Amino acid sequence: MPRLTLGHSTDRFFDKQPVGRIMNRLTMDMSTIDLYLFMKVSGSVMIFFQTLVPLAYIHAILPWYMSLFALPFYYVVFMLYLRYQNTAVPLRYCFKTSSSITQSHLSDVMTNTVVVRGFGEQNRIAVTYAGCVDNSVKADLTDDRLMKRWLCNRVNYLWTFYNSISYIIGLYNASWLGPGTLGIALTNLLLLEGMIEPSLEMMAGALFELIALARVHEYTSVTQEKAMYNVEDAKLRNHTVRFLRSKATPLTVREADDRVEVLANGKVLLHSTPDGRSLMLADSGSDSQIGRFQDLCATCAELNQIPSLHHIVAANDASGSAKDIAQELSRSARSFMTATGFTTQPQVVVEFQSSWLADGARLDIQDLRAGYAEVPQDVLKGVTFSVEPRMKVAVVGTTGCGKSSMLLALLRIIEPRGGKIVINGIDTQEIGLATLRSSLGLVPQDPMLFTGTLRHNLDPFKVYTDGRIRKAVQYAHLEAFINTLPLGLDHVVSDEGGNLSFGQRQLLCLARMVLRQPALLLLDEATSAIDPATQESVQDTINHAFPGSTMLAVAHRLETIMEHRPYRVALCGVGVFLRVSFWPWGAADRNVWSFAATFCRCFRTPVIAACLS
Ligand SMILES: Nc1ncnc2c1ncn2[C@@H]1O[C@H](COP(=O)(O)OP(=O)(O)OP(=O)(O)O)[C@@H](O)[C@H]1O
Ligand SMILES: [Mg+2]
Repeated sequence: MPRLTLGHSTDRFFDKQPVGRIMNRLTMDMSTIDLYLFMKVSGSVMIFFQTLVPLAYIHAILPWYMSLFALPFYYVVFMLYLRYQNTAVPLRYCFKTSSSITQSHLSDVMTNTVVVRGFGEQNRIAVTYAGCVDNSVKADLTDDRLMKRWLCNRVNYLWTFYNSISYIIGLYNASWLGPGTLGIALTNLLLLEGMIEPSLEMMAGALFELIALARVHEYTSVTQEKAMYNVEDAKLRNHTVRFLRSKATPLTVREADDRVEVLANGKVLLHSTPDGRSLMLADSGSDSQIGRFQDLCATCAELNQIPSLHHIVAANDASGSAKDIAQELSRSARSFMTATGFTTQPQVVVEFQSSWLADGARLDIQDLRAGYAEVPQDVLKGVTFSVEPRMKVAVVGTTGCGKSSMLLALLRIIEPRGGKIVINGIDTQEIGLATLRSSLGLVPQDPMLFTGTLRHNLDPFKVYTDGRIRKAVQYAHLEAFINTLPLGLDHVVSDEGGNLSFGQRQLLCLARMVLRQPALLLLDEATSAIDPATQESVQDTINHAFPGSTMLAVAHRLETIMEHRPYRVALCGVGVFLRVSFWPWGAADRNVWSFAATFCRCFRTPVIAACLS
């Protein structure tokens, strides 16, 4: 449960929670809950009854004044237990906090080992770490040993005193009680004395497990992001569907009137879109009814869910050309097996793109205000600009002026506080987060990789064929590097991509986007760590590998932008991303220095944000 809620928590949660605390709760606390909570709580209930029944019996058979004498005794024991609990619970929290700090410290050092060694700070780090462990052990010992001992000793002394008094009174009244009754009462009292320590141990254990439960339970109520899916946006979602080649309907391809048609059972099922990059359903015959994707494979139920206005943008290795996609769809199982060497159950993987963004994404940002939760000041203060479909826009501005924040607002990782972000007429606030994010692609400033193979990092949901992955890798100029690896795409990437250079990590993130071909691509300093020669070719890739994408690229190096004419440039100013507009590319501005001069001029004027293209 907490794992699920954390997965959907707002970004702010991870900003505020140290990694050690999250690790501690999701590992140590969770495992104690799973392993011991039930055992300790049920053990405590059992012990409670094991104590209560003999006590009730003793009081039933001993004279009434014995019970009266016992009342202050029980009261003192209860007060001792309360005192114990009031100290043990905060101490337990101290122990948990100190072990979280220890874990955070360890994880900081592990991720920065090079810096620690570089500065020769190993000894200082070791001393700090020892201090953390020391604090944690002190809290644990005090709580788990000292406090329990404190309580057990006092209860033991009191019980012994109570037992002695009961023995004396019982022996004086032996004739009245009868030897049998007296024997049972005194034996029970002795037994209870032996049970004090294990009972307290069990109850304290249950208390500790309940504290672990309370800590984990806190994570079930963290602030959640907005809904991932809305009912209304089913038609906006992209889909990937697989079906067996052998079950697919036999298709034929023909070219007529500058368009490609795919025929099933003699009828036109699909035809190319006007831009020739994808296929769409054709009107089926005289009744002008649109066909159904289900006709591609009658046995594949998933195809039935695809809205009829979706476009087919890829089939197996084929993408970007309606003709290639049509030919791939129409290949027979036999020809497929011969061509690719597949020996078992060849599949067709078809990507459907919603009609929402099929003709490119038009972005309209209207008076957008956004900021980070709990920080009252807005980072984006009324950003207004529009980007036409398939336009490439470079965003430049000083450090900290809000470029990355604007990309995060587009993805609704920070929710807008005012204004609107409209993509192709749809307000992004009105659609589910998963729908929105699956239509956009981000190459972040700090490239993010997961532990696993290169293939897993490129295609975590296993929806692309090897051919497409290899093509993407080639586009991203990673092919030469991958060919040198003995395991190729199965090379294991270590934690956070630690065994790859920063530039290689950026290229992998770019290859991911080449595979996904998002309608709106956001690049945040995507090539900042790549050498100038490679950068030129990568820049070329960025310009040509996303023909259908609208692109917002944050860049610091003016040369990067100036050398690539398709870009328009948006300048933004410190702290306020006031207003962005575009005007035609002037010949004089092609010179990087004149552009830089314009850039600097803009920053000195009251209108902080301006734009060139
Ligand atoms: N998680 C956060 N919590 C609070 N404030 C933040 C957070 N991230 C960024 N900021 C603040 O928002 C402002 C804009 O930051 P942002 O990262 O968008 O700048 P940027 O233009 O991308 O800078 P750079 O060129 O250095 O990448 C900065 O003042 C920064 O301090
Ligand atoms: Mg940034």
